[in-house]
Amino acid sequence: MSSTESKTETNTEELAAEIKEKLIPIYIMGRKHMVPDTLTIMKAMEYAGFKFIRGCGCRDGKCGACSTVYRKPGDYHIRVGLACQTAVEPNMYLTQIPFYPANRATYNWEELKPSPDEIFKLYPEVFRCVACNACTKACPMDIQVMDAISSLKQGDIAKAATLSFECIQCGLCASRCMAEIPQYHVFQLARRIYAGKMLPKAEHLEAAVKAVKEGKFDSILAEMKGMKEEDFIKAYTEREIESELSEEYWRPGDKRFLIEVED
Ligand code: SF4
Ligand code: SF4
Ligand code: FES
Repeated sequence: MSSTESKTETNTEELAAEIKEKLIPIYIMGRKHMVPDTLTIMKAMEYAGFKFIRGCGCRDGKCGACSTVYRKPGDYHIRVGLACQTAVEPNMYLTQIPFYPANRATYNWEELKPSPDEIFKLYPEVFRCVACNACTKACPMDIQVMDAISSLKQGDIAKAATLSFECIQCGLCASRCMAEIPQYHVFQLARRIYAGKMLPKAEHLEAAVKAVKEGKFDSILAEMKGMKEEDFIKAYTEREIESELSEEYWRPGDKRFLIEVED
């Protein structure tokens, strides 16, 4: 064996020993697995041989698909988190809840009025809230869930919609609610009503839809479809982009496809 080979083997052994030192036990569905302590729950489960066919989407804390319930030894708390964002800890007992069976009301959007009474009719359980705040503590997005429910009870759809704006529909709040309120479905309805029936219509959006219908972009789309791949990539990489340092009213040099709305 050459000295180089011998050195490489020693390094590999050291690395293996180092990794072994960092392995910690976790329990998945009651069975013990040794996993590196630097991993998230999701990666640790994959390391242990599980393959996610549900309960995994963005892997970036955005989609809410990877809700997880766990306990730690010697701790009476039930803890919750997103598997893609929560690091493993020794002796965690884990359960995945990729889908939470919360009640979602059905309604006719056209007939729905922008009134809190409409929400109360569809979700009367909001009045069962006992203000325990378990929902807020469970939320991985740090949403003030209880306050948003309280706002709705006071008839403030706008505040509930604003407070819940970053909800990723993971369902962890509902899983902890003793009043069995499906907070995330309630909030989604509040945001729909607020955006669709309370806020002023966005004039620039209406103008853009009109321009699309009138065929303003048909020629450039046809031109792009006919491009060779390399020409398309070149056109894309060389396109005009607003600089981060540009002034507020930046406009591209090529104004053929601009849609201006007068203030
Ligand atoms: S409000 Fe509920 S569903 Fe939305 S992100 Fe927070 S815990 Fe998840
Ligand atoms: S967990 Fe349920 S009962 Fe408790 S504060 Fe939140 S909505 Fe109210
Ligand atoms: S996989 Fe999307 S939030 Fe975890």
